[in-house]
Amino acid sequence: MSKVFITGITGMDGSNLTDHMLELGHEVCGIIRRHSDVGNQQYRLEDIKTKVELIYGDMTDHSSIERALKLFEPDYIFNIAAMSQVRISFDIPIYTFDVNARGVFVLLEAYRNICPEAKFYQCSSSEMFGLSVDDDGYQRETTPMNPTSPYGISKVAAYNLVRHYRRAYGLHACNGILFNHTGKRRGANFVEQKICKSAVEIKLGLRDKLELGNMDAFRDIGSSRDYVRCMWGIVNLPEPMDLVVATGKTYSIRDICKIAFKYLDLDYNDYVVCNLRYIRPEELPYLRGDSSKVRTLLKWKPTYNIEDLIKEMVDDWLIKLA
Ligand code: GDD
Repeated sequence: MSKVFITGITGMDGSNLTDHMLELGHEVCGIIRRHSDVGNQQYRLEDIKTKVELIYGDMTDHSSIERALKLFEPDYIFNIAAMSQVRISFDIPIYTFDVNARGVFVLLEAYRNICPEAKFYQCSSSEMFGLSVDDDGYQRETTPMNPTSPYGISKVAAYNLVRHYRRAYGLHACNGILFNHTGKRRGANFVEQKICKSAVEIKLGLRDKLELGNMDAFRDIGSSRDYVRCMWGIVNLPEPMDLVVATGKTYSIRDICKIAFKYLDLDYNDYVVCNLRYIRPEELPYLRGDSSKVRTLLKWKPTYNIEDLIKEMVDDWLIKLA
């Protein structure tokens, strides 16, 4: 049994990773921020709250991070905490950088000084590639990083910090470069979840239209539950390295609307309208990941396709909203 420390434990990936770690018999500790509505903050941990240790902490408060690592003495550190909403990063750019980049600096320093024998996983993002696409239409480990948002820039900084600490101090620190991923626990303001929820609300007569921004962006979308399995594999490779995790398939936001509405016997053309409010100051138009390296090293592959994911999310909203 290993001791696994998770930042971002209350989010989609953090809670799915916690489920996976408990299934494997590990001990889990996570940091949570102070929140006035604890129920809402911790709903994804509802079934497992008594099986994990939760400590107050915040990526912007180095004393809390040091305290948590000293108390728990982890064998593994997963940094999943982030201000993860790309559009909102344009509104709160400095905070985004404080949490996503400076916060990783704080965590790496604490890791180096307190528990350097531990293995460290950083949740890096395909948003780091930004405008770069290789000639064959994919992004991979060697694709240059050319980010298009404060979020993407903060993630490039954190990615480089992890590589620096690995080289400079010989730490077992790695980056998983995850393309978009989703599931029932996805926050409602990410596009595929927003589409599924709104389509169900329209079907049930609870709303009459869905407002979106750029429908011609393409995303490679996998399953969070598939990807947390892969994170565990990556951090346990004998040599720490940086690896892309993706499905290799890409869909436009329009395609996703089509699939979700069709599943409910609706035509998205009748309900979806553009609202300029959701258009970003700079957009990332196209993502499609080549994850052949991680597939070869770990014998890992995604088990969900986009139709499975949308069906699961729509069915979940049908239960929640009916
Ligand atoms: N959120 C949102 N809301 N996105 C919209 C909307 C809308 O109403 N309308 C169009 N979009 C477009 C966005 O402009 C973007 O091109 C695409 O839908 C996906 O947006 P998001 O679902 O917000 O995700 P993201 O791709 O920006 O970021 C996600 O994936 C990254 C990995 O590439 C997040 O999960 C990040 O945390 C993650 O790192």
